[in-house]
Amino acid sequence: MKKIKKLLVVGTGSIGKRQISNFIKYFQIDIADVRKDRILDTEKQFDINKSFLDYKKALKNEKYDAVAITVPPHLHLPVAKLAVKKKSGLFIEKPLGLNSKGWKEIYKICKKNKLINYVAYCHRFIPYLSRLKKLLNQKIIGEIYCAHLKWSSYLPDWHKYEDYRNFYMSKKKQGGGSLLDDSHGIDLVRYLLGEVKSVNALVTNISELEMSSDDSFFATLKMKNNKIVQMSFDLFSRTPRIYIELTGKKGTIIWDRVNHLIKIYKRNNNKWKIEKYDLKNLMSMYPNQAKYFYNCLTKKKDTINNIQEALKTQQIIDASFKSNKLQKVVKI
Ligand SMILES: NC(=O)c1ccc[n+]([C@@H]2O[C@H](COP(=O)([O-])OP(=O)(O)OC[C@H]3O[C@@H](n4cnc5c(N)ncnc54)[C@H](O)[C@@H]3O)[C@@H](O)[C@H]2O)c1
Repeated sequence: MKKIKKLLVVGTGSIGKRQISNFIKYFQIDIADVRKDRILDTEKQFDINKSFLDYKKALKNEKYDAVAITVPPHLHLPVAKLAVKKKSGLFIEKPLGLNSKGWKEIYKICKKNKLINYVAYCHRFIPYLSRLKKLLNQKIIGEIYCAHLKWSSYLPDWHKYEDYRNFYMSKKKQGGGSLLDDSHGIDLVRYLLGEVKSVNALVTNISELEMSSDDSFFATLKMKNNKIVQMSFDLFSRTPRIYIELTGKKGTIIWDRVNHLIKIYKRNNNKWKIEKYDLKNLMSMYPNQAKYFYNCLTKKKDTINNIQEALKTQQIIDASFKSNKLQKVVKI
């Protein structure tokens, strides 16, 4: 395949390299990272066109069809600002940023200049998540009353090559913490059940982990269609658990991302049916997402999770921090 589109990847850490491994098929890739070791490591693994220690220099010297923003969240907005100024499209890692401030302006510039913009809430590209959505659309468990979502892991286990205390995830100022990071869960609830009316949340730090960002988040969400969602995220669970359980008039569905299962209970026959999936199905979300982004770019199509759409998830994050501070229910 002849690569005619140019992509700048800013941030070649964990997700930066993963995205490059999928984008390399479609794009000529330049990279930027403040760490020389990360640049050398990335150059060793992939056929990189040009490398920069300063993303501003890259954007000054070259013209890119899109910039992939794969740096910690506190840098998403400044990189996006400069990229759109230089008329580049945006592939932004989730969460959108530290908060909603400044993003409406970026979206306006993108719309005015017809620049692609996409926020990488990648779980929407898991085939067995699409299967769950289809089952819910078919009303397999009837009207849904409520959902419980849990997103738990152990932060020190994430990257064996670095001390979790030095990783941005432990640092509040850089946008670490369970609420911002596991906001995949909020995106999924919106994707599956609709928009949120209000939130009552605790954003806390209750474990022995040494971090200034939150190690856990607990919330009750009231949806516009009156369904109730309870969710919790944490970074201190020694065994990972990621699932959503939906309870409806005719039964229950559990979507389990750790064991790759969809379990369906139907009240009419009092039986559980189990559908089994695998890690390959889960991980296909990344190549699926890269292909989708490239197709939208080349076909000049808007994306399913543009900045305007991702702002709806970010507003729930903002409202959760506010609810925790005020100890009150916050309307969206
Ligand atoms: N969608 C997903 O599945 C997924 C998974 C992991 C991370 N993420 C998101 O990706 C982002 C990065 O996370 P990560 O785990 O890759 O972090 P990381 O720490 O592994 O990588 C971040 C990289 O950014 C570089 N960097 C820092 N400041 C920079 C600057 N000014 N210019 C250029 N590079 C700079 C760092 O040196 C580092 O190499 C976060 O927003 C995170 O939420 C998404």
